[in-house]
Amino acid sequence: MKTRTEMEKYREDFPQLKTQVNNKPLIYLDNAATTLKPQVVIDAMTKHLSYDVANVHRGIHTLSEMGTRQFEETRIAVQELLNAKHVHEIIYTKGTTDALNLVANSFSEKYLKAGDEIILSEMEHHSNIVPWQMVAEKSGAIIKVIPVNDDGELIIEEYKKLLNPKTKMVAIVHTSNTLGTINPIKEMITLAHAVGSKVTIDAAQSVAHMKIDVQELDCDFLVFSAHKMYGPNGLGFLYGKEDLLNEMPPYQGGGSMISEVRFEKTTYHNLPNKFEAGTPAIAEVIAFKAALDYVKKIGLDNIAHYENELLEYATAEIKKISGVRLIGTAKHKAGVIAFVIEGVHPQDLGTILDKQGVAIRTGHHCTQPLHRRYNVTATARASFSLYNNFHDVDVFIAAIKKAKEFLL
Ligand code: ALA
Repeated sequence: MKTRTEMEKYREDFPQLKTQVNNKPLIYLDNAATTLKPQVVIDAMTKHLSYDVANVHRGIHTLSEMGTRQFEETRIAVQELLNAKHVHEIIYTKGTTDALNLVANSFSEKYLKAGDEIILSEMEHHSNIVPWQMVAEKSGAIIKVIPVNDDGELIIEEYKKLLNPKTKMVAIVHTSNTLGTINPIKEMITLAHAVGSKVTIDAAQSVAHMKIDVQELDCDFLVFSAHKMYGPNGLGFLYGKEDLLNEMPPYQGGGSMISEVRFEKTTYHNLPNKFEAGTPAIAEVIAFKAALDYVKKIGLDNIAHYENELLEYATAEIKKISGVRLIGTAKHKAGVIAFVIEGVHPQDLGTILDKQGVAIRTGHHCTQPLHRRYNVTATARASFSLYNNFHDVDVFIAAIKKAKEFLL
């Protein structure tokens, strides 16, 4: 494993860490919302936009061919990241939300009928709830919800009770963006498959923080976004098993996704093009390869180990502050700490921390049902990344103490 000192050197790669916010050095602890970008990603984006602009899959001119090659190299890198069996099982989308809407719509059109059941969990992000509600309404399918315990862990015994032959889809988050809980997805996938259900994994909060192997997990679909993994916005990924993707109808119609268009009938392209209508986010896709190479160079094991050290230190320190209630105390957790302080509104806390240069997120983090479960309407949330350090935690803790003095 890389040492703390070795890991701290990577801070140099992120220019935004040198900026000041409210005349204070930026302490960026909002990584679950989006991550900062390393110079290599910024450079790749700038190079493409400065010199290499061309559309992909359309021209035979030099730049179009070069762009197409680079565009497809990212797909191979994502295949490698997830250990997908086939490169055409990787579909480019606009983000995690877009990928989940794609799965929900195309899957339900092919496989869902009235009375079928979809299992979600109480800790899902709205983007893994609402698309399923929308397709359930159309198809007449029923949504069932796995509850969480007081520590923020899914109650697996309750999950087992929900599973039955009517279950057609289990859509669950890998790592909760609010609780930080890492769910036992391998076990959950096996249980779902035993009743014949398919499984979608929302890996938005896990893919940049731990190794994922879709073949080992045997998940049917998995989604994530580039911007939470040091890459650009507006780009996400859907991994899907080849046979399912082949059987599902396209999500959107337009250019690139067709084989032949006639007014009488249009036929569709093969995977992955069938699901990629229109001109894609070319610069973003190409620049994301730089992010993937960067993560590979550091190693996801090193990242996971280091972030866990930060989490343990920050958790121990925040627990010492009186009046703090942690929301999410699962045994198996990633670098996310959501909390409330007695008598302090999270919004006020966030504002005061911001004045001290500390960026955290406050609100419901797009998990309203989960917040209701803990009888809170909002929480404050700090989330870590590979470029945070122990000094960041110290400043964060000192800032909370200061805010408390001011507000109470
Ligand atoms: N889902 C992102 C978050 O948790 C935006 O902040």
